[in-house]
Amino acid sequence: MVWHVNILTLFPEMFPAMLGQSLAGKALERGDWSYSLINPRDFAEDKHKSVDDTPFGGGAGMVLRADILEKALLSIENPGRKIYLSPRGEVLSQRLAQTLSTHEQSITLLCGRYEGVDQRFLDAHGFEEISIGDYVLSGGEPAAQILMDACIRLLPGVMGNAETAGDESHSNGLLEYPHYTRPAEWVDCFDQRHLVPDVLRSGNHAKIDQWRNRRAEDLTQHRRPDMWTKYNEDTKN
Ligand code: ADE
Repeated sequence: MVWHVNILTLFPEMFPAMLGQSLAGKALERGDWSYSLINPRDFAEDKHKSVDDTPFGGGAGMVLRADILEKALLSIENPGRKIYLSPRGEVLSQRLAQTLSTHEQSITLLCGRYEGVDQRFLDAHGFEEISIGDYVLSGGEPAAQILMDACIRLLPGVMGNAETAGDESHSNGLLEYPHYTRPAEWVDCFDQRHLVPDVLRSGNHAKIDQWRNRRAEDLTQHRRPDMWTKYNEDTKN
């Protein structure tokens, strides 16, 4: 099954950008996922092709029009779950990416620009809002790409080593343990000698797992007390 993303954007040239490269790009070539671009400007009716207007009540910026956006949306055959990328939304998490990539066959992403989108359009068509973090971008396109990247790598067959996804940060409620590779002994440009932790070269896999888990727990406790509290609550139950 092909995971499909409909992207409503005034800047279709911004896609696929990074999603055409590396892991996501290869998956796109293989047909593991696909996307279509819908430009609301193609549905504008006046000679200036305007898609936005000034906000009722006054204030800065322009607002994308409900009537134009609706025409664009209705041109999509299979919209699936409808998402407006917005700093007001639920913050994207690994769990949400997992749900969107495995339980949805297709999704529709609305990328805002300017001041925002007429609320009536979002309400009438049941858009949910997703944010990629507590900061404001100049448009939803980079946020849409980040959401897509997080989902694409979780699609069946996309990530080479299936085990990689289980250990990585956020998939098990912990930050990931540190990694090391050859050379086992490395001297840096300040003439400092660095060794790899002995346990990782011991061949004792039970000990290695225990060490990695301890490091993951230490990192989480110190860097992300919020995650650490939740992890302890969840492991108690
Ligand atoms: N559009 C502007 N800022 C955003 C954010 N933080 N997340 C998602 N979409 C956005």
